[in-house]
Amino acid sequence: MVVVAVTGKGGTGKTIVSALLIHFISKVTTRVLAVDADPDSNLPDALGVADQIKKTLGDIREVFQVSRDDMGMMNKEQWLEGKIYTEAICECDSYDLLVMGRPEGEGCYCFANSLLRGILRKLMRHYDYIIIDSEAGLEHFSRKTIDTADYILVVTDMSKKGLSTAKRIKEMSKELKLDFKGIYLVGNRIMSKEAEEIIKKFADEEGIPLIEFLPYDEKISELDLRGEPITNLPEDSEFVKKVKKIAELIVGVSIKV
Ligand SMILES: Nc1ncnc2c1ncn2[C@@H]1O[C@H](COP(=O)(O)OP(=O)(O)O)[C@@H](O)[C@H]1O
Ligand SMILES: [Mg+2]
Repeated sequence: MVVVAVTGKGGTGKTIVSALLIHFISKVTTRVLAVDADPDSNLPDALGVADQIKKTLGDIREVFQVSRDDMGMMNKEQWLEGKIYTEAICECDSYDLLVMGRPEGEGCYCFANSLLRGILRKLMRHYDYIIIDSEAGLEHFSRKTIDTADYILVVTDMSKKGLSTAKRIKEMSKELKLDFKGIYLVGNRIMSKEAEEIIKKFADEEGIPLIEFLPYDEKISELDLRGEPITNLPEDSEFVKKVKKIAELIVGVSIKV
C-alpha cells in the first residue's frame, strides 16, 4: 500500500493533478483508491464520475452521530463499516472512490472519528495505491482520520502564497509526525523561465525537491468551462505527459495507455 497525498494552496491544480494520477495509476493496477479529502473540492467532477457518488463519509458520520439506535459497541463499528462499504465507496471505472465530504458539525465527534480511523486503516490495506486530493490544512491528517502518507506532493502556482503554503505544509507534516518517505513540489501553470528559477531556488532552500513543472494549458480551462472531466484531455498534451511521468515515478514502471 502506497499513500500519496496531493496538497497545496487552493486553486493551484491539486484536483486535476490528482485526477490524472488516478487515471494513469489505475492503468497499472485496479487496486486504486481515490480519496476526495478537500471539502471544497470536486474530484468526482474532474474524473467524470460525479453522478455515481451516493454518499460521503461525512454524510454517514452525521447519520451515525444522531442515530439513537441501541447498538452495542461492536455493532456500532460494524454498522459504520457496512454503511461505508455499501454507500460511500464508489466502484468507479478501474478504481474506487471515497469522498470525505463536509467537515464535522457542532459537538464531539471523537467516538465516531476513532471508529472511522480503524475502519479507514483497514479499508486502505485493500489497495495498492491510495491517492488523496487533500486541502492545504491537511485536516484529515491532523484529525488522524487518515494517519499515514508515504508521499506528499505539494502543488504550487507562480505565487508567493503558493510557496509559503508549501513551506507550511512541510512544517505541518513534520509536526503531525506523518511517517512519510518524501515531500515533493510540483509547479503548475508556470509560464516563464524566471518563475521556474524562483521556484527551483525555493525548492532547494526549503528542502522540498521539485519533481516537475506543468505548463499552462488552455484546453484545461475549456474542459472546465464545458464541465467535462480532465481525463478528456488529449494524450499528446504536454500537461498530460508530465503528470504521466509523475505517475510513473510513483509506480516505478512505464505506463501504457
Ligand atoms: N495547468 C493549467 N492550465 C490551465 N488551467 C489550469 C491549470 N491548472 C489548473 N487549472 C485550472 O485552475 C482551476 C483550479 O484547478 P484545481 O485542480 O481545481 O485546483 P485545486 O484543486 O488546487 O483547488 C481549475 O479551473 C482548472 O481548470
Ligand atoms: Mg481541488
